[in-house]
This record gives sequence, structure tokens and C-alpha cells, in this order.
Amino acid sequence: MRTARRRHYLMCRPTYFDVVYSINPWMDPGKPVDTALAVAQWERLREVYEGLGHTVELIDPVDGLPDMVFAANGGTVIDGRALVARFRDAERIAEGPAYRDWLHNNGFPGPKTAGVVNEGEGDYLLVGNMLLAGTGFRSDPRSHAEAQEFFGYPVISLTLVDPNYYHLDTALSVLDDETIAYYPPAFSPGSQAVLLRLFPDAVIATDDDARVFGLNATSDGRNVVLPEGAMDLAEQLRARGFVPVGLDLSELLKAGGSIKCCTLELRSAA
Ligand code: ARG
Repeated sequence: MRTARRRHYLMCRPTYFDVVYSINPWMDPGKPVDTALAVAQWERLREVYEGLGHTVELIDPVDGLPDMVFAANGGTVIDGRALVARFRDAERIAEGPAYRDWLHNNGFPGPKTAGVVNEGEGDYLLVGNMLLAGTGFRSDPRSHAEAQEFFGYPVISLTLVDPNYYHLDTALSVLDDETIAYYPPAFSPGSQAVLLRLFPDAVIATDDDARVFGLNATSDGRNVVLPEGAMDLAEQLRARGFVPVGLDLSELLKAGGSIKCCTLELRSAA
């Protein structure tokens, strides 16, 4: 029997969500987007979190920042300390200061903005006492040393190689303090070897799971909220004693994001 730990999340309602530029292979500005449907799917996610006993805080969406719904990218917050994102793409740069201000005004004093490109929890995932960090598409490899120095947790650098899985949280999910699930082909051979060495018992996602963004999931240690199309992954989680909670976030997938992307974990000081 696995035990859930209550989480504190920051989310951003997709009021201004749209796909009007393309900065990853999922984004096709020619395809219509139903913003009302995106809001409804997102509201369902928020309800599920609250139903599981988690606290959800909200940052105001900003008109003209259609990707701001992807709160995970706003920064990384560990032990009550925030390292704020510096985005790679011009279209998202203004989100950094918006997240910085929110954190500053809501109990995270002195947030530090990263000195080099760092897309927050999109590329930084804490597993127990170790911070897994992605690079290859977005976060600058130099941001890994900066994060290690800032947080004082050992950073494990992982290189992403498949443009469809451009952020670490699209290819790897943290299930509890020692368990992860991941999609090996998204990583360089050396990074695959590192993951195998550190997590020999990891859940391995199939091609189909990865394609529906099944790894873009959140876990409280027991309940794993994941895209409902990730059938095999849900089955593997169940077999390990987790409780998969499948949701449809298809509208947000048009921007290359899903459940985890919409969720920034706020970890307070112990
Ligand atoms: N359209 C956004 C981008 O390409 C999606 C971000 C997804 N967020 C994430 N944490 N993977 O930047």
C-alpha cells in the first residue's frame, strides 16, 4: 500500500491559451484551438488535485502569453527557495518575471532568476534528494551547475535527443522519492545508462505511452494523474500499487503540454 503526501501546486488558467507560434514539433498554428475546451479540461485537472487533498494556488494568466498555462516552466521551488525560469524563446520570455513576481508575493522571498536558459520544472525534477535535469533542447547545460549551487542538491544531467520530447517532464515522471517512469529512446545513450544505473527498477514507458504524453504526469506518491490514453503505463502503475487517475488534456497537447506541464510544485522549507 503506497502513501500519498499532500502537495502544494501552482497553476495558471488557460484563459488566453492558443497556438499562434511553433517552438516544439507538436505546435501547428494552422490547427484550430478550442480555448473553452482547454479551460474545461484544465478545470477538471484542478478539481482532481483538490479532490486528492492537494492545495492549488493560481497565478493570473496574462493576455498575449498563450503558453503561460504551463506553470511547470515558471521555475523550480525546493525548500521554500525559488529559482525562476529564463526562457529560451522570445515568445515566452515575459512569463519569467510574471512567475518571479508571484513567487515573491506569495511566500517565496528573494526568488532568483536563472542566469542562463532554464525552463524550470519542465527540465528539473526532484527525486528524493537528487535533482534530475534535462538539456538538449531548452535548458542550457550550464543551468545544471547553477541549480546545484543554488539548491545544494546533487544535479544529474540528462541529455534529451528526440525533439518530440524536448523537456525532461515529457519523457520522465517522478512517482515517489525513489521511483521514476521514463521513455529510454528520448535520452542519449549515456543518459540512458545513467538512468539504468540509478533506477534499475524504473517503470519503462512504451512508444504509445510516450506519444500520448503519458509521462507528463504528477504523483503524490500514490495517486498518479496522467493522460488517459497512456493505457500500458496505467497498467504498469497499477501493478506496482500506484493508483492511476487518467484525464483528457487533448487541447493542451496541441501546444506540446499536458498534466505535469500545467503543474508547478511549491515545496516549502522543511
Ligand atoms: N508550448 C510550450 C513550449 O513549447 C509547452 C511547454 C510544455 N511544458 C512542459 N513543462 N513540458 O514551451
